[in-house]
Amino acid sequence: MKISRRRFLAVSLAAGALPFPAPYISADTNSCGKVRLGMLGCGIRGNQLLKEFSAIPEVEIAAVCDPDSSRLDETAEKFNVPRKFTDPRELIVSDGVDAVAAAVCNHWHCLAAVLAMRSGKDVYVEKPLAHNQWEGAQVVKAARVYDRICQVGMQQRSDPMQAQIKRFLHEEKGIGELLCCRVNRYDVRPSVGKRATPLEFPPEVNKDVWLGPAADVPIYREKLQYDWHWDWNTGNGEVGAWGIHILDDVRNVALLDRVALPKRVMAGGARVIYNDAAETPNVCFAWYDTGSVPIVLGLSNLQTKDDPTDPGPFTGPGSGYILYGQGGRLEGRRAGAIVYDNEGKEIRRFKGTGGQAEHARNFIDAVLAHDSSLLHADAKTGNDSCGWCNLVDIATRTGHELDKSQMAEVGDPAGVWNDVIAGCEALLATYDTSMEQLGFKLSSVLEIEDGRFLGEDAERANALLKRTYRDEFRFPEI
Ligand SMILES: NC(=O)c1ccc[n+]([C@@H]2O[C@H](COP(=O)([O-])OP(=O)(O)OC[C@H]3O[C@@H](n4cnc5c(N)ncnc54)[C@H](O)[C@@H]3O)[C@@H](O)[C@H]2O)c1
Repeated sequence: MKISRRRFLAVSLAAGALPFPAPYISADTNSCGKVRLGMLGCGIRGNQLLKEFSAIPEVEIAAVCDPDSSRLDETAEKFNVPRKFTDPRELIVSDGVDAVAAAVCNHWHCLAAVLAMRSGKDVYVEKPLAHNQWEGAQVVKAARVYDRICQVGMQQRSDPMQAQIKRFLHEEKGIGELLCCRVNRYDVRPSVGKRATPLEFPPEVNKDVWLGPAADVPIYREKLQYDWHWDWNTGNGEVGAWGIHILDDVRNVALLDRVALPKRVMAGGARVIYNDAAETPNVCFAWYDTGSVPIVLGLSNLQTKDDPTDPGPFTGPGSGYILYGQGGRLEGRRAGAIVYDNEGKEIRRFKGTGGQAEHARNFIDAVLAHDSSLLHADAKTGNDSCGWCNLVDIATRTGHELDKSQMAEVGDPAGVWNDVIAGCEALLATYDTSMEQLGFKLSSVLEIEDGRFLGEDAERANALLKRTYRDEFRFPEI
C-alpha cells in the first residue's frame, strides 16, 4: 500500500540508525484499492495460498517468484499471473507489489520477510517463522521499525473454534483446573533415500537463489524440494513442519499466550531405522516447564516394522493435543475438539474450519486498515511459538547418550511423560531394538532465560540460536 509521508519519515529515521540504506519506497499504488500481492514460492504451499488469496476480492495476484522456473511457469499459468521472477530480491523491490507472501523453504523465511518489510511491503510469512531464533527476533523488530503488517502462517489461530474453546476452558472452567498437556505428532513420513553421489540441482532451478542464506554443502537425499525440511541446513524437522501448529494451538488455547517461551526443556530423539540422508529426528519426545501447565510432546514419523501407515502406539489424536483437567480432558486437533469427562463420556464437541480462508482474509484486513493489532498471528506470536520448536531441536542436537534414569528428573505427576516414552519403546520393539541400541540422544534439563540457555550445555545450545549466512545473503541485523 502507499506509504504516507508521516510513515515514510518514521521508517527513514529508524533506518538511518541502521547499517544499511533507507528502505525502498514503492512508488505505485493500485487505484482500485486492491492489495497487489507477490507470492514467493510456487511449491505445494505457495499454490494453496494463491488459491486462498485469489478468492479475496480486494487482492490482485501481481507477481510470482520461484528459483525453480518450471514450478514458476506452471503456477503463473494456473493463476494467470502477469509477472514472474526467479529471484525474490527482485520481486521484493519491484513496483506494483504492496504485500509479499513467502511460502518458501524455512531457511529463507526470515530473510525474505525482513527484506520485504525494509522495502515497504507488508508480509505474510509461512510457519515456522524462523529457521533460528535470532533471525525470528529480527522479523519482530523489522515489523516494528518499518511499521509493516506481518502475519505468520499459523492459520489455526484464525479458526473461530479457538475462541469457543478458550471460553470453555478458562471462563466456564469446563474441565476444571488444567493439570497438564500432551502434544502429539504421529504420522509416517517415508525415507528420503541416500545417494552415493551428491544430488545435482535440476537445470531449471537457480541453485544460488534456492540456497540463499544456507550453506552450500552436498545434498545426498533423492529429492531437492520438500525434503529440505529434514536437513538442519534448510529445515526445522517435523517439530517445525507440523509440530508448530499443535504447539501454537496449545500456547493459544491453554496458555492464552501468556508464556512466550518455556522456562526449561528436556528433549530426546534420533533419526533411526531408515538409514537415509536426512538429519532431523524421526522419533522425538520433549518436556516443557511452562511455569504453569507442564507440556509433553511425542512425535513419530517412523512406521512400525510391518505397517507403513502406523507410526507406533500413542494416546489421543495423531496430530493434536490432549489437555488434562481436574474434571476431564479436551482432545483438540485441526478443525475440531472433543471433551470427555473423567469417566470417558463425551460431554462437548467443537467443530472448526481449520482457519485457512479466515487467516488470509485476516491478513488482508490488517493490511487495508494498516493495523497490526488486527492480526491473529503477528510476528511476535509467530516467533514465540516457533521458539518452542527451535528449543526442542536444539535440545536434541546437543543431547548426550541417553540415560533413562535422567528422564525421571522432570517428574511426571499425570503419567503422560511415561506414556510418551513407552509408546516410543513399543514402536522400536517392533524392530526388536531399543532407544539405547539405536543411539538416542537425551538433553540435560536446559534452562532458558531471556531467550538464551543457562547452565549445563548452554554454550553449545546458545551457539545454535543463530546460523552463519552465505556472504551474498547476509542478514541485515536490525
Ligand atoms: N501453514 C500451513 O499449513 C503450511 C502447509 C504446508 C507448508 N507450509 C510451509 O510453507 C513453506 C513451503 O512449503 P512447501 O510444502 O510448499 O515446500 P516446497 O518445497 O513444495 O516448496 C517450496 C518452494 O519454494 C521455492 N523457493 C525456495 N527458495 C525461494 C525463494 N528464495 N524465493 C522464492 N521461492 C523459493 C522452492 O523452489 C520451492 O518451489 C514451508 O515453510 C512450510 O513449512 C505451511
